[in-house]
Amino acid sequence: MRATAFSPANIAFIKYWGRLNHKLFLPVSTSSSMNLSGCNATTTVDFDPKYRKDEISIIGADGKEMQVTTEGGEKNVLLFKTLDRIRHLAGINTKALVKSKLNFPLGAGIASSAAGFSAFVAAACVASGRSDIFEDKLELSREIRLAGSPSAARSVLDGFVELLTGRKHSNGYARQIAGEKHWDLVDTVAVLTPEQKKVSSSEGHILAASSPFFIARKKYLKGKDGLVRKAILGKDFKALAELSEADSINMHAIMMTSKPAIYYLSSGSMDIINEVISWRNNEKMDVFFTFDAGPNAHVVSTSKYAPEIKKRLDGNKYVDFTIANKPAKGTSIISGHLFT
Ligand code: DP6
Repeated sequence: MRATAFSPANIAFIKYWGRLNHKLFLPVSTSSSMNLSGCNATTTVDFDPKYRKDEISIIGADGKEMQVTTEGGEKNVLLFKTLDRIRHLAGINTKALVKSKLNFPLGAGIASSAAGFSAFVAAACVASGRSDIFEDKLELSREIRLAGSPSAARSVLDGFVELLTGRKHSNGYARQIAGEKHWDLVDTVAVLTPEQKKVSSSEGHILAASSPFFIARKKYLKGKDGLVRKAILGKDFKALAELSEADSINMHAIMMTSKPAIYYLSSGSMDIINEVISWRNNEKMDVFFTFDAGPNAHVVSTSKYAPEIKKRLDGNKYVDFTIANKPAKGTSIISGHLFT
């Protein structure tokens, strides 16, 4: 049986970095994000007795197709393990052919796994006969988290979403804060480098606890998810800007002080940080920055300032290209398959 899912990437305002449980991928804290309209994945999963082994490939917007192999890192291994888990849940043993198409170039350092993992798990559930898991979005988010990408679990619901922390599998699910029409924010992603990440976030989550500031971060995070929820619900840009920027820098402090240290930010990232602070302070623009596990800047503003911000970022000497994103709907099942 075959199914195709479409899913957005997302940008976190309060980030997940470090886990309570590495086997169950339970995040150390609750994280909150907005789905991105301009960065998405379409994934077709086909379970059929004609396949002799599982095959997975990813196609970038540049048309480049990459075969996913278990030698390619932990996230790749997890994709194959997830097929085994879903087969088990569905009580089938047929192998699968999986193709995933991104609407942005492969390896551009844009968080592809949130879009990719959410579309992959959703399509695999439906293709295996477990549409009931897809229909129950809380359960779908748990399955995506368990597949190995907690940030992807936030992509299943529409608009603004949080992923709850918890000590048990049942507690670690995503819930909606507000729909995609709630607030006209724009995240302009400034892609700085086409390089692949030096250290994967999977490794980073394990290293987080080695930072002497990890305990301080955990204390700092107490109640922040509630404040972000309040800022989103009340469309309080100033509060969201302060909370998000502080959280992003706080997370990068953990990265840079873990053992070994991880430096994701580059000269270009620092340049954009300074620019954004100047636009806000000197020109009174509603704008803030946030960085995930990479050098690319997410420059978030209200829609009023977005065209000017995109123009300025496009003209920045460190910027390769930009992608403007509005809040988007979550994962859906679509009728057009990537192969017949
Ligand atoms: C810095 O392991 O869930 O983006 O590497 O995108 O699969 P992927 O993500 P995951 O770690 C997310 C790390 C983060 C913060 C966040 O999105 O919460």
